[in-house]
Amino acid sequence: MAGKVIAVVQQKGGSGKTTLAVNLAVACTRRGMTVALLDTDPQGSLGRWFMARRERLGDPGMEFSTSSAWGVSYECEKLKRSADIVIIDTPPKVDADLRPALREADLILVPVASSHVDLWATDGVLDLAARERKAAWMVLNRVRQGTRLSEDVARAAGELSAGLAEARLANRVAYAETLGQGLGAEEAGGKAVKDEVAALTDEVLAKLNG
Ligand SMILES: Nc1ncnc2c1ncn2[C@@H]1O[C@H](COP(=O)(O)OP(=O)(O)O)[C@@H](O)[C@H]1O
Ligand SMILES: [Mg+2]
Repeated sequence: MAGKVIAVVQQKGGSGKTTLAVNLAVACTRRGMTVALLDTDPQGSLGRWFMARRERLGDPGMEFSTSSAWGVSYECEKLKRSADIVIIDTPPKVDADLRPALREADLILVPVASSHVDLWATDGVLDLAARERKAAWMVLNRVRQGTRLSEDVARAAGELSAGLAEARLANRVAYAETLGQGLGAEEAGGKAVKDEVAALTDEVLAKLNG
């Protein structure tokens, strides 16, 4: 059976696309799935993470490829043949270049860091996903528990047309540190990190298979 495709998209840079991609990839791998990463962002952060992982672990435990925006379909079809899950990381922009990734996606995830600027930036991506008749799910990232801002952003996100994932990622040094080390936060962080990554993975897999 062909693998399922997750596209991580968000116009705003720094919202957590790459963070979400690597942590889902590590979590799925640790659950016994075969995972392939596809980096379509010319900045190549996902590739840097993957190389750091290879250096650190020898066997990174997953596949990695890059492609141009328009090479996504071809590359995805290929990766899907051997991977259970293909995760596409995308550049911080919304335009026609994003369409191939959205078309390939079985599930679209839109990280929204806890700021109104991030929330405003999601409109374009949600419109584009809707035009492709694809459901998009926002994932609140860098949440500061109990702050007014995080609550405001969560409430405003809940009022948008797209879905809002129940699981959220908090603002934690572990995410920033492990990204540079080629690890998933759950491979180095404490219980709180492990729990929230597990909850997000459960929810994402349920949506993917639902
Ligand atoms: N939940 C989080 N807690 C702390 N730092 C985070 C979190 N999510 C992302 N970051 C940090 O924010 C920066 C941008 O994240 P990144 O995933 O690269 O965003 P994008 O791919 O959308 O540009 C990185 O330095 C990353 O480590
Ligand atoms: Mg990125």
